[in-house]
Amino acid sequence: MKHLKKHFKFRLRANSLAAKYTLAMTALVVSIVAGVSGLTIARERNTFRSELEQQAEVMLNTVVAMTSDAFYQRDFDDLERFMDNLGSTLEDDLFSFGRVYQSDGRVVSDAYQADIEIYSLEAEPFGQQLIASENIVYLWEDNQLIVGRAVSIGGDVWGAIAIGLSTDALKAKVTAVRNQGFVLAIFAVVIGIILARILSRSITESLRELTAATKDLAEGNLDQKITVAGEQELADLANSFNLMSSNVRTLVQELQEQAEALKTSEAIASEKALKLQIAMEELTTTQTQLMQSEKMVSLGQLVAGVAHEINNPINFIHGNIRHTIDYTNDLLELLDVYQDHNPEPPDDIADLTEEIELDFLKEDLPKMLQSMWTGTERIQEIVKSLRNFSRLDEAEFKAVDLHEGIDSTLMILENRLKSSGSFPRIEIRKNYGQLPNIECFPGQLNQVFMNLIVNAIDALESKGEDKTYEEIEALDPHIAITTSLIEDNWLRVCIRDNAGGIPPEVQAKLFDPFFTTKPLGKGTGLGLSISYKIITEKHFGHISCNSIIGEGTEFVVMIPQLSKHGVQQTSETVSSTSL
Ligand SMILES: Nc1ncnc2c1ncn2[C@@H]1O[C@H](COP(=O)(O)OP(=O)(O)OP(=O)(O)O)[C@@H](O)[C@H]1O
Ligand SMILES: [Mg+2]
Repeated sequence: MKHLKKHFKFRLRANSLAAKYTLAMTALVVSIVAGVSGLTIARERNTFRSELEQQAEVMLNTVVAMTSDAFYQRDFDDLERFMDNLGSTLEDDLFSFGRVYQSDGRVVSDAYQADIEIYSLEAEPFGQQLIASENIVYLWEDNQLIVGRAVSIGGDVWGAIAIGLSTDALKAKVTAVRNQGFVLAIFAVVIGIILARILSRSITESLRELTAATKDLAEGNLDQKITVAGEQELADLANSFNLMSSNVRTLVQELQEQAEALKTSEAIASEKALKLQIAMEELTTTQTQLMQSEKMVSLGQLVAGVAHEINNPINFIHGNIRHTIDYTNDLLELLDVYQDHNPEPPDDIADLTEEIELDFLKEDLPKMLQSMWTGTERIQEIVKSLRNFSRLDEAEFKAVDLHEGIDSTLMILENRLKSSGSFPRIEIRKNYGQLPNIECFPGQLNQVFMNLIVNAIDALESKGEDKTYEEIEALDPHIAITTSLIEDNWLRVCIRDNAGGIPPEVQAKLFDPFFTTKPLGKGTGLGLSISYKIITEKHFGHISCNSIIGEGTEFVVMIPQLSKHGVQQTSETVSSTSL
């Protein structure tokens, strides 16, 4: 079955070398057999023809010898009888024609047409040709060979005789030879085809093997080795193929090694590029942070310096005012006593008392001193806030009260919150929960609150652009600051404004460094990116933004109460700082 299938496949492939080879071999065998058969037939026919011609010649000479007496005596009746006899006695397959001509070419006797042609008046051209010819004349017709000659007696031509022999036997022989040739040709063709197939198989099998191996090689199976025995050329081809296959294998191996090496170096290069990119990003971020922290440090230094300078004199003033109030009260009391003992003072004292409005002075001086006391108290609070905000002395991780940081920040931003000529006061709505102290970098967290509150103020101001004071007032610009302690000891600080909100495309880039929608010179686009880093990297917390266009924005900061830093530190090292 398998063999049949293979054979069928082989036959179907008319374009294959085997098919062409078989066809060529068959055509060659057929041409050779046809040529040989043709030649044989031609030679056999010629042989038969010359044999028939010889036979006819002998018979003609016999007939001439037998009729020469009748010619000599001009006994045409005898001649006719002879021909009649010939026609009747020799009426077999051999004879087909017999005719006697007079010396003028007219027919005097016919072996088969007794009455018709005899003594015909017209001379027959063939008869005339025979009379004129010195040799025997052969006339080949379809079914017979006619031979004739002149009958000469004593140098005179007395007439002529022609006899015809049937060529049926000759044709039968030629046909037999042709048939034999045909059978032989078919036999030769069949043998030729079989031989051609066997031969072509032996070649194409090797070629097929070679082709399969080449295909396998092309598909990547490089371990190809073929063995072709037999034909030298094919064996050479197989050897060349094996050589090529081994060369290709070596080449592919080399290429693979090179590709591997290239891949490795590419991987190294891209790893380096990635590292470089990361380093660049880190550098940019660090640079940004540096810039910002430098800014903050300078601001902090300035604030701390001013606070420090003010702190001493104000403490001094504040402390002395208390004594001043006491002393003043004492002096006023003494004055009252003097007045009681001396109700009618001399004129110059009475004039001066009136001039300095002593009654008003006695009433106003304690009030003034009290307000001075309150003023210095307020200054002390401001100084405390300034020192608290800058926190230069507290760069370490500390446990602090977040509310104090927020309040200090608000104090610093007071100038921006208070009403100006064109913009009403921005109300701060505090909703502080009960918060434990939190371990953090207080200065950095203040920086975050500062960024978030300043952004909210900027947004509220930008919402109020092109609006009148009253219109803005009607919008009730405010910032709500809500703090709470939520489960798992997380502190939540939410700073919400009722400005215009943030469109989604801006929200997607909020925390990107240098992203700003503010005009050049107003915003650097670093506030939120730095805040993000401070919350996530320094305090292991989260910062997120929720915003609705037209309604406002809230930033939610979540900080673990005991950050990872805090957990690593022992409780002794974490000092609680009172602000
Ligand atoms: N509360 C808010 N309401 C509306 N838009 C806000 C708010 N907070 C931040 N944004 C938008 O986010 C952008 C980025 O804020 P970010 O604080 O990082 O930079 P900035 O305020 O533009 O500049 P910088 O803070 O460095 O001075 C702002 O330009 C603004 O468009
Ligand atoms: Mg900002």
